[in-house]
Amino acid sequence: MKSSAEIVAKARAMGVALPAFNIAHLPMVEPVIRAVRDQRSFALVEVSRIDCLKFGARSMAAVAEEFRRFDDPKHVRLHLDHVPVIDEDGNRVDWRASIAEALALGYASVMLDGSRLALEDNIAASREAAAMAHAVGAACEAELGAVLGHEAGPLPPYEELFASGRGFTRVEEATRFVRETGVDWLSVAVGSVHGAVSDALKNAKKVEARLSLDHLSRLAAATGIPLVLHGGSGVRQADVLIAMKKGIAKINVGTEIRQAYEKGLAEGGPARAVEATYERTVSLVRDYFGTAGIAKEILG
Ligand code: 13P
Repeated sequence: MKSSAEIVAKARAMGVALPAFNIAHLPMVEPVIRAVRDQRSFALVEVSRIDCLKFGARSMAAVAEEFRRFDDPKHVRLHLDHVPVIDEDGNRVDWRASIAEALALGYASVMLDGSRLALEDNIAASREAAAMAHAVGAACEAELGAVLGHEAGPLPPYEELFASGRGFTRVEEATRFVRETGVDWLSVAVGSVHGAVSDALKNAKKVEARLSLDHLSRLAAATGIPLVLHGGSGVRQADVLIAMKKGIAKINVGTEIRQAYEKGLAEGGPARAVEATYERTVSLVRDYFGTAGIAKEILG
């Protein structure tokens, strides 16, 4: 079976990005996989600690089990998103235990998020996580720079943030980071923000983010590995389509499908929530990312 590292590298070579859909609620697994298959597309199904602790994904074991029930290797792979070393509330996390658990559960790739650490410490933790993943044939993603939005406090106005380039991944650091860690994919900060997860803001519509495409080109040239865009909900579509040609090969999408599920649940109950998730996933794959029909070529 083609590995996740090979699959994302193929997406990079094709100039497309695979969406990685966050499972915020367990019943979202089935409609997400069904939508990707119906579109003859390819995607990652992912879960993060936030999805488990702040929403209804329960645990990485529960998501792995649900994934096995509906798995279709021609269309999806399972990924563990964001294992932070320091979380969005400032707490230290036993990240080694989480990565080890995910690998034992069969996650095909994992993400270590050391972005709240100093550069040296982020390199050391990411290198260790990559070695853990590679030892069992899994892929590893890490983050350099700061994709903001998960923190509880309010963000500065988006345009101010974008213009200041605050948190953007530094090109010189990225070259060194990739060389010294051996990670397979790098999450970069080039203008996107995560959808809010605090109780006060989680239902809000996301601001339309833009991407600094020249900066992205510099990062792609400096790293040479597939790059990852976090905060994929609600980014200006024209920028996303160009970003795919410039090195972004995986795009994390959480808020869009979570809000669709939760609205469906509130308005029509569990069955409606599942269909709302299906419909939103179809429209993202087909109309927004434009990745319908790529499955055969991705695996070819
Ligand atoms: P959004 O919720 O903004 O789509 O971001 C998802 C994400 O980046 C998860 O890692």
